[in-house]
Amino acid sequence: MSTYVVTGAAGFIGSHLTEALLGRGHRVIGVDNFSTGQERFLEAARRCDRFTLLEGDILDPGVLRQALAGADAVFHFAANADVRGGFAAPRVDLEQNTLATFQVLESMREAGVSRIVFASSSVALGEPEVFPTPEDCPIPAQTSLYGASKMAGEGLISAYCEGYGFEGYAFRFVSLLGPRYPHGHVFDFVKQLRADPSRLRILGDGTQRKSYLHVDDCVRAVLHIAEDVRPARPRSPIPDPRSPIPGSGSRFEVYHLGVPAYCLVRESAHWICDELGVSPRLEFGSGTRGWIGDSPFVFLDVTKAMKTGWAPQHSIEASVRETVRWLVGNPWIFERRT
Ligand SMILES: NC(=O)c1ccc[n+]([C@@H]2O[C@H](COP(=O)([O-])OP(=O)(O)OC[C@H]3O[C@@H](n4cnc5c(N)ncnc54)[C@H](O)[C@@H]3O)[C@@H](O)[C@H]2O)c1
Repeated sequence: MSTYVVTGAAGFIGSHLTEALLGRGHRVIGVDNFSTGQERFLEAARRCDRFTLLEGDILDPGVLRQALAGADAVFHFAANADVRGGFAAPRVDLEQNTLATFQVLESMREAGVSRIVFASSSVALGEPEVFPTPEDCPIPAQTSLYGASKMAGEGLISAYCEGYGFEGYAFRFVSLLGPRYPHGHVFDFVKQLRADPSRLRILGDGTQRKSYLHVDDCVRAVLHIAEDVRPARPRSPIPDPRSPIPGSGSRFEVYHLGVPAYCLVRESAHWICDELGVSPRLEFGSGTRGWIGDSPFVFLDVTKAMKTGWAPQHSIEASVRETVRWLVGNPWIFERRT
């Protein structure tokens, strides 16, 4: 049994990850400030006596010090996950993502915890020109502050691996779907259609090509790779920061996670309407981007992850339809998230 800290444990993905870690027999210390997290997402975890919740902010070193005492590793999933709002409030991604990741790393170093699993994103690739996009593709430019903050997080983690002997695993996910899904185009479309089933406004011209992954497939991949394929190495003291040993046993790896497929946004709109039993007038915007930073084509090469023996079990259509059913059965989420 290991003891893991999960930042963002009350979030969409963090709560599923927490349950999966508890299901594997581990202790989990969840940290969340409930900025977007939901108490209800933790109902199952709270029934397990190996789960502890620390309500607090990861920018607060005191909260992290308490969480990290006796921990074996950190799953750093807390973040501002809203890609779209970045340019309207440019400090948010810097503080909640870049600085928060730095604070997690510094607190880990202080506590002698050197293993970190990081929720990165396909958004960190900007608008790549190679499809399907492998882990080592060129990145022409960042197109969002969120993407920039995720790449900064990866950079910080790799530097801590190099300089302080940390072990880091960054998973770049495409957009996730499934139960507890609280933001993104399926949420927006279902919300619109609940208010008015006669029309659906779609950002962009609907030809955006996107890949989606079911949250269960994502969590299975993360645990398979970070626990089974790369079991924790024996803990060694973190090198003296005044004389770090570059490259001494450092291990930093990036994995792309998605399905080996994509769909058009207009196809997804069709599945959503079909699942809801509505036939709205579709009103498209113009251009191939819904907003600045909305990549018109997301399609990751997931060969590296699949070579480890993991494979996604849900098609994009099945994930979209299941997500619609979950939203319909949990209308309270529309009051909590905008
Ligand atoms: N959902 C996706 O499609 C997707 C895709 C790629 C990457 N990611 C990344 O995965 C992670 C989880 O995303 P999600 O969709 O579950 O988002 P979410 O908003 O549901 O979860 C984030 C959680 O972190 C908590 N949190 C945020 N800032 C905090 C802080 N300063 N201190 C403590 N807790 C804080 C929130 O309350 C929330 O519970 C994020 O890092 C996100 O960037 C998500």
